[in-house]
Amino acid sequence: MSVIKKCLFPAAGYGTRFLPVTKSMPKEMLPLVNKPLIEYGVDEAMDAGIHGMAIITGRGKRALEDHFDISYELEHQIAGTKKEGALADIRRIIRECTFSYTRQVEMKGLGHAILTGETLIGDDPFAVLLADDYCVTEGPGVLAQMVALYEKYQCSIVAIEEVPRDETNKYGVIDGVEEAPGLYRVSQMVEKPDPEVAPSNLAIIGRYILTPDIFDILRETPPGRNDEIQITDALMTQAKMGRVLAYKFKGRRFDCGSIEGFMEASNYNFAHVYRKD
Ligand code: UTP
Repeated sequence: MSVIKKCLFPAAGYGTRFLPVTKSMPKEMLPLVNKPLIEYGVDEAMDAGIHGMAIITGRGKRALEDHFDISYELEHQIAGTKKEGALADIRRIIRECTFSYTRQVEMKGLGHAILTGETLIGDDPFAVLLADDYCVTEGPGVLAQMVALYEKYQCSIVAIEEVPRDETNKYGVIDGVEEAPGLYRVSQMVEKPDPEVAPSNLAIIGRYILTPDIFDILRETPPGRNDEIQITDALMTQAKMGRVLAYKFKGRRFDCGSIEGFMEASNYNFAHVYRKD
């Protein structure tokens, strides 16, 4: 059992880059071949020993709840046929995990979505996974790597990767001191900086371990970039106290929030991950 017991999945965003498909369907239900993005996220959380899944939804996101539930009609229809195997993974997830949901009524940013999750998380450290960042690894998953670090350092941790300089304005970007290979003590964090002013090319991706004092900090955090409450701004308060690490994870990330990244991930997944059996 992991010291981190719950994973928060902010999934309330509009997914405008995928319109029109996201008009009535959550972006997190877009499939890589035959499995929705959110299920890969749940797999990764389980791989890290986490079994409490807390999902932030919004209007038009009901398909997420239905996916992690039994469909009696369908189950009855395929019972005893070889198609049953296709539901084996999701049945295991439903058996071994608990799911809780709350709605973000107004989309005021990722920081606000995380604060909305306080009611599901309580007063323990927790993981955050943005399902539109799809990560593949050879060994343990990205969250498992981060949970192992949390056990040692007991502070907030963000996953980072090097991005091309001219793309810093798409990410939260950090600066810090490298304490161990690939592990930085964060001194500075900026949300979507222009390349000329970015403190580095180390960009935060959609995996976090957060200590629960982040909720009080988020409550006090005013809207920042794009007039949204930014998790990066709240983390900066912890960073000033030396309590944020940035970890260059082992693995590869696909930005499935963009059409190009999503297509790349689909092709990769079909060639390397999807099993036909
Ligand atoms: P994005 O910046 O990718 O926004 O959010 P989006 O709305 O999902 O997509 P586009 O840009 O319109 O195409 C990053 C993550 O934060 C969640 C999103 O669901 C996504 O997982 N989010 C963002 C919320 O849950 N609530 C918000 O208010 C904003």
